[in-house]
Order: sequence, then C-alpha cells, then structure tokens
Amino acid sequence: MQDEAVKTPLEQLRPVLELLADGEMHSGESLGNALGISRAAVWKQLQKLEYYGLTLESVKGRGYRLPGGLDLLSEKAISEQLGGSARALLRELRVFDEVGSTNSLLLERLEQGRGHAVAVLAERQSAGRGRRGRNWISPYASSLSLSVGWDFSGGVQCLEGLSLAVGVAVARALARFSVADVRLKWPNDVWCQGRKLAGVLLELKGDLTDRCSVVIGIGLNNGLSAKTAEGIDQPWTDLQQVRPGIGRSELAAAILDELLPMLATYPEKGFAAYREAWAALDQFAGQPVQLQSGSLSWRGIAAGVDDKGALLLDTEEGQKSFHGGEISLRGQV
Ligand code: BTN
Repeated sequence: MQDEAVKTPLEQLRPVLELLADGEMHSGESLGNALGISRAAVWKQLQKLEYYGLTLESVKGRGYRLPGGLDLLSEKAISEQLGGSARALLRELRVFDEVGSTNSLLLERLEQGRGHAVAVLAERQSAGRGRRGRNWISPYASSLSLSVGWDFSGGVQCLEGLSLAVGVAVARALARFSVADVRLKWPNDVWCQGRKLAGVLLELKGDLTDRCSVVIGIGLNNGLSAKTAEGIDQPWTDLQQVRPGIGRSELAAAILDELLPMLATYPEKGFAAYREAWAALDQFAGQPVQLQSGSLSWRGIAAGVDDKGALLLDTEEGQKSFHGGEISLRGQV
C-alpha cells in the first residue's frame, strides 16, 4: 500500500473538502476557525481545488461554496451498508483520496500475499487504466473507482468469462437503484441508454496454471463534468445524468454485495451460471457488429456468448467464436 505516514497534496485538502462537501456557502473565517488555520492559509488551500477539477464559487463578502456539493466516499458507510455475505467475505476495505490506479495498488498487494478479499476505492486516480492500454479518467469524487483482489487456486481456466460475469454483478447492483436501460457490451462494458457508463478491467498475477490472483477493477462515471470528459473517445454517459441521487458509498456497497459472493463461488459455478443473465442484458444481440483486433476485422451478426464467455458471431462463413483480450466490438452503422 502507499506510504500512509506521508499525506499526499490531495489528502491535505480533505478537511476543507469535507467542510465544503455540503455545497453551502462558508466564509473564509468560519473555514479557518473550523480548520484551526488563518484565512490566508484557507485561501491557499482553496486555490488548489481547481487543479483537481473542482469548481469553487466565491462571493465577495460571503465566502465560498462548491456548487452541487460533493458526495465523498466513506469506509464506514460502505461497511455498514454491506449485506451479510459480502461482509463475511471481505477482509479489508480501504478508501484513498488519491492513488495512481486502484488496480496497480492491489496488484502490488497480491504480489505480497496481502490482496485476497481486499477492496480498494479512490476518490481520484492520477493514472487510472482502461482496457487495451487506454487511460481511464477518474477525477476527484466524479467516478467510482473500485478494485477487488482475489486469489484462485484452479488456474486461469476457472476464470473464463469472469469479466463478463462482473458486468452482470454491476448491472444487478444498478438494478437495486432502478437504473433503467442498463445493458452489457461484450466483453467488459456496462452501457446505459445506449452509451458507456462503466468499464471492467481484470488483471492477473501468478501461476496461470495453478494458484493465481486477479484484480477486478471497475470504473463507473458518476459526476463527470463535460470538461473533464473531453478526453473520452467513445459515447459515454454518467450515473448523475441517468439516475441522480444514488449515494456513492451506497453504490459501492451494492457492487461489493453482488461481486464478492460471485467471486467466492466462481470456480465451482463458472460463467455458465451467469450466461443467461448476461444474454438478457446483451446490448448487441441479433445486431450487425464489427470486431477489430489490430489490423484484422470481422463483420457479422452478434449471436450472444457461449458458456465460457466467448462472443459468437454469425458470419457469411458460418459461426465464429471470439475470446476477449485485445478485441473490440462496435455496432455497424
Ligand atoms: C475499460 O477500459 O472500460 C475498463 C476501465 C476500468 C477502470 C477501472 S477504475 C478502477 C480500476 N483501476 C484502474 O486503473 N482501472 C480500473
């Protein structure tokens, strides 16, 4: 884990952010009194917020506020909202203000044998990773960045289809809050109303024929501003737009509730147990699609997935199956 004795610049701002999180107006004097620092020191801290994508409103003679406030993650609130099975399975839960990538942090811990059944969340990732070498944008308090570490003893083949099953877990968590029109796009995307809402990145470590560990990383847009999302190169959406008002800690707990029991039983059950649920959420079932892997591409009609999570594509030469990895899928226009 990162060095906990040294506070990162963002961690140093946490107390002032907690005060401003209510979205109300606070005078410089009241902030200074609450924090035990001078008004000049308060101002110095507030000037740093813009760097983290936070828009501070300042009104002369009245003070400062963060319009819309902030819904900060809380280890306590997440733990309290976990159901019994997830609580029994989870060994450790950590919420950081800022990390490079929650996946990287857990990969390190798994290597040290301290990552099993550990969940890590971060308010901000400075080097969040997506599939196929892409960046994952996760500005402060505007997305849910969650990783879970898990050790498996049956080799990599017992993990076949797991990334698709994780999509089912996320969709089930969203269903608890009645988020409408949630779909899954093979292999790892969660879509809502025809646009990407969340992505899943699985990373493996260890002996792929015997004991191996996996980090399950989930990133879900939750309050992205149009400006911070400028770098996203595909149609995207955000939970605040499609279903405002879901607490971030509440959502994290719901995802862990769905995910942890799935991980604990996955080696016995495999993807076959989730295939039907995945098929019911399939964004592209029966539609013309194009698959791309490097310079190779295939066109056909998406025909669902098999028991291992491979995509089935009906082409002019018959049905072909494709396993995840570096392949991307697009609807044909
Ligand atoms: C994708 O490309 O769609 C997958 C995105 C996965 C992003 C999540 S955010 C939490 C975890 N940490 C990372 O660096 N990536 C994953």
